[in-house]
Amino acid sequence: MPGERINGTVLTFFSTASAVGKTLISINMASELAKAGAKVCLVDLDLQFGDVCNYLLLDPSHTIADLQKGIQTQGSECDVASFLCPYEYDGTVFYVLASPKKLEEAYNISEKEIKEIIRRLQTMFEYVIIDTTSMFSVVNLMLLDLSTIVTFLGIVDFIPTIKNMKIGNDTLRSLNYDENKIRLVLNRSDAKSRISMRDVERLLGVPFDFILPNDFRAASKSIKTGVPLVLEDEGTELSKSLRELVSRYTNRVYAGDESYETENSGGSGWFSRLFS
Ligand SMILES: Nc1ncnc2c1ncn2[C@@H]1O[C@H](COP(=O)(O)OP(=O)(O)O)[C@@H](O)[C@H]1O
Ligand SMILES: [Mg+2]
Repeated sequence: MPGERINGTVLTFFSTASAVGKTLISINMASELAKAGAKVCLVDLDLQFGDVCNYLLLDPSHTIADLQKGIQTQGSECDVASFLCPYEYDGTVFYVLASPKKLEEAYNISEKEIKEIIRRLQTMFEYVIIDTTSMFSVVNLMLLDLSTIVTFLGIVDFIPTIKNMKIGNDTLRSLNYDENKIRLVLNRSDAKSRISMRDVERLLGVPFDFILPNDFRAASKSIKTGVPLVLEDEGTELSKSLRELVSRYTNRVYAGDESYETENSGGSGWFSRLFS
């Protein structure tokens, strides 16, 4: 278990539609960073309908609802690490804070309690990765505020989804964050749709920062086996793209074929731009 006192980076996945890939991508983000040796915690803040443990085939003995009670009764003495569930595959390890098992538990966790939990996790992990839900709720607004980078995910399928993506994108950009804090990522780019990606970019008024391909077979297989795409050796386009995406959040650049180059300062990595 990781030692205490780091100031971890918070990477949040957000969208205004469901089934755009928030959970799949946040799991792969956690896996890829952990594979590179980072201390990573993935927090499932889709409190009512969380999928992280389903996608990883984990059966956690504790959830965020148990941690909430632990903090309520023991305060700063509460051992947060004992409420986390390790995921391990082929030598890669990261930790999961699971969503509650019951709906009423999800309903009873406050924004303040969640904030305290994230702050505590930041002192233990280099990366705290947050999977969210698709709404501008009080909890999600608080998460957007405390995030280092918010990845706003979209897909191009039907008009209502695109209308909501536009509302979401405009709203995120009206929150006065550093413009490099928001990253717009298109998932399932080549899925069949009559609407062109370029038209969507024109509507949004900003280009996508990154585009992930559609591969339903690979995505479904990884969910069925509980093994994240980036930890499998099959080298699908989707897993390669996911690795490349993750490398944008670090100073390691994915150069294909399992190789990485360390980026000099002032390069294209999203952090270097955020902190320059
Ligand atoms: N790039 C992709 N290509 C094909 N299927 C995908 C891709 N990304 C996600 N999926 C599939 O889409 C569904 C929804 O993904 P999920 O991560 O659960 O979305 P969300 O968390 O935003 O609701 C899942 O069945 C997942 O396997
Ligand atoms: Mg999800």
